[in-house]
Amino acid sequence: MAILVTGGAGYIGSHTCVELLQAGEDIVLLDNFSNAKPQVVNRIKELGGRDFPLYAVDILHREGLEKIFAREDIEAVIHFAGLKAVGESVKIPLDYYQNNVSGTINLCQVMARAGCKKIVFSSSATVYGNSTDVPFREDSPLSTTNPYGSTKRMVEDILRDLCASDPEWSACLLRYFNPIGAHKSGLLGEDPNGIPNNLLPYIAKVAVGQLEQLNVFGNDYDTPDGTGVRDYLHVVDLAIGHLKALDYVRTHKGAEAINLGTGRGYSVLEVVKAFEKASGVTIPYRIAPRRPGDIATCYADPSKAKKLLGWEATRSLEEMCADAWNFTRRQQLGDSL
Ligand code: NAD
Ligand code: UD1
Repeated sequence: MAILVTGGAGYIGSHTCVELLQAGEDIVLLDNFSNAKPQVVNRIKELGGRDFPLYAVDILHREGLEKIFAREDIEAVIHFAGLKAVGESVKIPLDYYQNNVSGTINLCQVMARAGCKKIVFSSSATVYGNSTDVPFREDSPLSTTNPYGSTKRMVEDILRDLCASDPEWSACLLRYFNPIGAHKSGLLGEDPNGIPNNLLPYIAKVAVGQLEQLNVFGNDYDTPDGTGVRDYLHVVDLAIGHLKALDYVRTHKGAEAINLGTGRGYSVLEVVKAFEKASGVTIPYRIAPRRPGDIATCYADPSKAKKLLGWEATRSLEEMCADAWNFTRRQQLGDSL
């Protein structure tokens, strides 16, 4: 039996596919390539050491999904497919609700009909909203401040209701903190189109001279150096968390929300320093106004992941920066995805 990975050609999905293949799992990759390059699939095959079926299908396309479940023997789904840009979600909310919420309902309906009732879902720390009560625990109050966050919270509720309605379902709702870094090989990483919104891809573009300087969004937060603090975790640690969650849905029923973070926060300036050390490149920056909607500090209480999944992040900030730099440099040298 195989694991269907939706959004498997994306940033986190591609790293997870490699770990799944290396762990001996059979996979089926689904992606509509709206935010991924087809070349990624060959890199997953190269790094994973094995071939697998690929479906260029949209999760909104019911018949496309039904065909996959008719042809392939799917045991469980790891569901990454979705739109993820907070700012864009404010501008085109209906696209976000349709893609992330309707798409997931579609997927679950097709799964249920095929008798496949195990799902690992990509939620986000964004469901904790702008609460200041850190570290965030899974039972901390939820609130969302933008349509993207609302889609994640809605899907969590939908999967909880689904599990309550049918005791055969099991769902792991993984709340990621800030994934960064890249595969050690430099063949997979995060390469957003246009000007990046997130800190690490922005720093990487400054490091290779594609952007002039980093704008540090505020240095007057109530944090040790005044800049925003986040819980950055290596994308490979995050990918491994999905393998643990897969084991969990195989052996448990019901819905469980679980944080995936390191439990340690770093400030923007600490990340800049770590990247400079890893790359040997100075990152010019200026202090800019706060970004609307940002909070001062966000980090996980990761104890539930350790207890239920036996998972802990092990890779350091230095390693995250070194791997991100290796990937960026390879892209720059024409090894482009
Ligand atoms: P990504 O954009 O790199 O990957 C998502 C993949 O899904 C892309 O390859 C895209 O082409 C595909 N996709 C989008 N809509 C689709 C559809 N309708 N049908 C089929 N494929 C579709 O993003 P990522 O960073 O790898 O994130 C994966 C998941 O994790 C997303 O659901 C995201 O919301 C969530 N998440 C990401 C972060 C982060 O910081 N990267 C943090 C928290 C949660
Ligand atoms: C963003 C998303 C959030 C998502 C999370 C993980 C927004 C508003 N929020 O949060 O929904 O769950 O990523 O993917 O996009 N920073 C700068 N300059 C920059 C970019 C960022 O100073 O050019 C700062 C930010 O103010 C923040 C930190 O760097 O303090 C991290 O920012 P970012 O990478 O965008 O992640 P989040 O804000 O945590």
